[in-house]
Amino acid sequence: QAPNEENLRSPVCCIMGHVDAGKTKLLDCIQGTNVQESEAGGITQQIGATLIPTDNIRDRTKELKAGAKLKVPGLLVIDTPGHESFVNLRTRGSDLCDIAILVVDIMHGLEPQTIESLNLLKMRNTQFIVALNKVDKLYSWKVSPNAPMVNSIKQQSEDVKSQFDTRVIFQFKEQGLNTELYYKNKNMGETFSIVPTSATTGEGIPDLLLLLVQWAQKTMVEKLTYHDEVQGPIVTNIKALLTPRPMKKYRLKGKYMQHKEIKAAMSIKISAPGLEHAVTGTSLYVVGPNEDLEHVKEKAKGPMNSIMTKIDKNGEGVYVHASTLGSLEALLEFLNTPEVNIPVRGIGIGPVHKKDVIKAGAMLEKEKEYAAILAFDVKVKPEAEEHADDLGVKIFIADVIYDLFKQFKAYIDGLKE
Ligand code: GTP
Ligand code: MG
Ligand code: NA
Repeated sequence: QAPNEENLRSPVCCIMGHVDAGKTKLLDCIQGTNVQESEAGGITQQIGATLIPTDNIRDRTKELKAGAKLKVPGLLVIDTPGHESFVNLRTRGSDLCDIAILVVDIMHGLEPQTIESLNLLKMRNTQFIVALNKVDKLYSWKVSPNAPMVNSIKQQSEDVKSQFDTRVIFQFKEQGLNTELYYKNKNMGETFSIVPTSATTGEGIPDLLLLLVQWAQKTMVEKLTYHDEVQGPIVTNIKALLTPRPMKKYRLKGKYMQHKEIKAAMSIKISAPGLEHAVTGTSLYVVGPNEDLEHVKEKAKGPMNSIMTKIDKNGEGVYVHASTLGSLEALLEFLNTPEVNIPVRGIGIGPVHKKDVIKAGAMLEKEKEYAAILAFDVKVKPEAEEHADDLGVKIFIADVIYDLFKQFKAYIDGLKE
């Protein structure tokens, strides 16, 4: 398929940065949700994806009077955790994305996981935009709610403005990176753009959204034309095949026994560099001596590609949760068949939390029937259940895909009567 500007998929955009820089809050601000406050300890512990439809982006950026057409159907945003222990999820997020937002707390500057995220993005040559967040905390900041930064900045004193570009640009330089405030940046691509933002006042959000979409459209048409991949498989050499040692010998010689060869299905632990970055449920492919590595890699990319393309282009639909990538894929495949045809707005792997209910609740005002979560082979946290009752979000739980569909269909038919 040739690159085609009229047939683009949504760019996948990963939000990365140090813990508490405001990644989730920024996403809340963009979506009009309140996920952050419901997270346990105020800390993100999973990755999930949500689509911001282009209509939202158009509406949000109208004050910037961007003449250029928005051609992508939306922006598929992946929120990642900033806590140091979740490096595997950050790695996964940076593997999946086309473009990224690196969030920096203006009060703190570059922090350890900012630098770690930066290096992950550099390694993959991923373009990113820096959101210099929490500008509302600057002394004597004058708030213009939801205003584009280019307007808001006119209200600020010279002293406030100077705090945008002094410390942080210098700190990026120390990491070998040229950065510049986006409205001064004449050389995007070589110099990374900084957008000052506030997730609490909404200032700078219009600029950030527009810049992301325009940059993706300008540089990634080929990549965003529907055939392309979004994931890099992990290629590695196996160091050891291990099985648990029988209990009684356990203390003597360590937990595992090593094997040269293993046949048939049993519980095996594979030791190999890089495997800590793998997502639960993804497949293992062995590259034989006469096999082409690139061909095997293409095969391995399949599941994540198909997941990303099955999210509704208008950002309307139910939320879907499953225990592994594989089961999520199966469920999406089923929901996409013409006879079933249930649109999906967002996905999650793992238990359903209160914040997932809040995300699903965003549909209440648009398409009430889609304010629902289909939970396949995962647990629903009690506080999620409670909140769903309060909000009027329906949660359907089953460990057979077809049962989920039956429950959901019965519910929709009930609504129609
Ligand atoms: P992790 O996912 O745990 O890494 O954190 P995060 O980067 O998602 O940050 P989060 O959205 O949880 O925000 C952390 C804290 O900063 C919360 O108390 C937010 O309310 C606050 N916060 C985020 N953005 C802003 C902002 O622009 N201004 C102000 N004043 N506070 C903010
Ligand atoms: Mg977060
Ligand atoms: Na946080």
